Amino acid sequence: MAIQLLLDLCIHSLTKNLSRYTADIKSLPPNIKDKLIKLISLQGQITDSNIGEVLHPAVESLDLRECDISDNALLQLYNCKHLKEINLNSRKENRLGITSEGVIALALSCPYLREASFKRCCNITDSGVRALALNCHYLQIVNLGNCSGITDASLQALGENCKFLQSVSFSSTQVTDDGVIALVSGTCSKNLKEIHMEQCVNLTDVAVEAVLTCCPEIYIFLFHGCPLITDRSRDILEQLLVSNKIKQVTWTVY
Ligand SMILES: *[C@@H]1O[C@H](CO)[C@@H](O)[C@H](O)[C@H]1NC(C)=O
Ligand SMILES: *[C@@H]1O[C@H](CO)[C@@H](O)[C@H](O)[C@H]1NC(C)=O
Ligand SMILES: *[C@@H]1O[C@H](CO)[C@@H](O)[C@H](O)[C@H]1NC(C)=O
Repeated sequence: MAIQLLLDLCIHSLTKNLSRYTADIKSLPPNIKDKLIKLISLQGQITDSNIGEVLHPAVESLDLRECDISDNALLQLYNCKHLKEINLNSRKENRLGITSEGVIALALSCPYLREASFKRCCNITDSGVRALALNCHYLQIVNLGNCSGITDASLQALGENCKFLQSVSFSSTQVTDDGVIALVSGTCSKNLKEIHMEQCVNLTDVAVEAVLTCCPEIYIFLFHGCPLITDRSRDILEQLLVSNKIKQVTWTVY
């Protein structure tokens, strides 16, 4: 049996009966809170009502994929200026409790965000994404997959404001060619490495061509399940593959 640190054992036993100790958690030092946050977020134990106790001003990363939280939790991040990553992706079901109100609060509280992931947060609209783009200039990773409420305005705001963007997902949304053009011809065009735009019913070959001509660093490019994209895109892609560093690409032929 591996030998565990007493500290880790203590934290582990704390997580077994979290609700009993909620009031004591608030005063723990940041390094211990970080260990606790890591454990209980993986266990899905962070909620709107206890997140205020575990947060501390130096927290840098929150992986809340397993946790059932809403805007209320994001409103409690006002003191977490150094947050760099937040992951609110939902695995299967839509996450209804996160709306633009929460995302705007997050954007205003956390100017140094590098990753903002909201897959299946379908109640987020363009105003939330616009707030992120305007306030969080260091964003590198943005995931808006299945955020069915977003439109071209979101991609436009990201393209205009976030020059460090490397990876963007807007799969399963109704964005159009105009949104993709605005994104890839914006300030991040030379940094974009990864675009996921599969299952977008409104995209055509024009979007594929725009990505391939504007983004020299692209190496993961997914556009399968887009019914309006034709063989022409495959031709453009094949011509470019010779000179390009593309590593992963997916498409569907209709
Ligand atoms: C999220 O959207 C659903 C419909 O898609 C709606 O019923 C629900 O009230 C919304 N939730 C919030 C918090 O706005
Ligand atoms: C995500 O989008 C796809 C395509 O639009 C749809 O088939 C799927 O049901 C969506 N998933 C959820 C969880 O809404
Ligand atoms: C996208 O396509 C759908 C289905 O074809 C259509 O109903 C919708 O109006 C289109 N949206 C835009 C913004 O063009």
